Amino acid sequence: MENRLEILRNEIDKIILNEKSDHIRMYISHMYGVARFCTLLAMKRNLNVELATTCGMLHDIFYMSGGTSDHHAAKGAEQAETILKKMKLYSDDEIKIITTAISRHSDKTHIHEPYDELLKDADVMDHCLYNPAFPIAQKEKERYHNLLTEFGINETK
Ligand SMILES: [Fe+2]
Repeated sequence: MENRLEILRNEIDKIILNEKSDHIRMYISHMYGVARFCTLLAMKRNLNVELATTCGMLHDIFYMSGGTSDHHAAKGAEQAETILKKMKLYSDDEIKIITTAISRHSDKTHIHEPYDELLKDADVMDHCLYNPAFPIAQKEKERYHNLLTEFGINETK
């Protein structure tokens, strides 16, 4: 059977690795970090692991492919839709779940659908765990605290 995730990763390589960006290490670290946390959260929350991981892989595609970070969630959702439709391996329902999660991922204050929340949480986990010596951003404290509780981890800071 085709492994859609690996096919998608090759597609993303073609887009991202063309970028003449000084931030490429950060981009790839963040993309794969969030994707991996999406996988873990999907396992924990009984959601579809492949769809969740796909959300993580594509969530910041807009600014990682040369766009700005302004409105990157909405613009990235449109770009992800184009990429996924072109691949012809995803159903309309699957594309809807993925692009909705991407479009909402910057709104960390509201609570949305399970895949939306999973992606926001994975994004926060990657920000907060990138370097444990860095302080946790005020706007991410509550989600980070809730995530540690979900995983049964006692907070150290
Ligand atoms: Fe992100």
